[in-house]
Amino acid sequence: MRVTVLNGVNLNILGRRDPELYGGISIGELENRIYEWARSLEMMVQCRQTNDEGEYIHWCHDAHNNADGLVVNPGAWSHYAWSIRDALEPLTIPIVEVHLSNIDEREDWRRVSVTSDVVSTRIVGQGPDGYKQALEYLKAHE
Ligand code: DQA
Repeated sequence: MRVTVLNGVNLNILGRRDPELYGGISIGELENRIYEWARSLEMMVQCRQTNDEGEYIHWCHDAHNNADGLVVNPGAWSHYAWSIRDALEPLTIPIVEVHLSNIDEREDWRRVSVTSDVVSTRIVGQGPDGYKQALEYLKAHE
């Protein structure tokens, strides 16, 4: 099973963001963990991160041909980027939306997720382990 993991805006500075909320690890460490989990689940994973919304959208489009499952953490784009929602909508593969922090219990503006109606499931507030749970979900829904 081929899985693409797309981390969005500001996730490149993860290690410098509030460790209580985001787990205190760098994007490199997070991706290494994801690759390890993927190996043990016998999945082929490609992790990518960008701060460029257009690039993120291109990668969502690419998942149509390149992936059997998609994990997205669009960061703050989740709360307002309808363009990303529309890029995900036509995909027929399962999509898991992950947030390290529990956005459902933070500021009002963060409780809005414009992508939530086009994803298969959401995992919030589990820290880095949320990505492991996302891979396990995709494995179970192969
Ligand atoms: C986040 C939550 C967003 O509200 C925030 O803007 C992020 C990270 C998370 O993983 O908890 O950048 O997506």
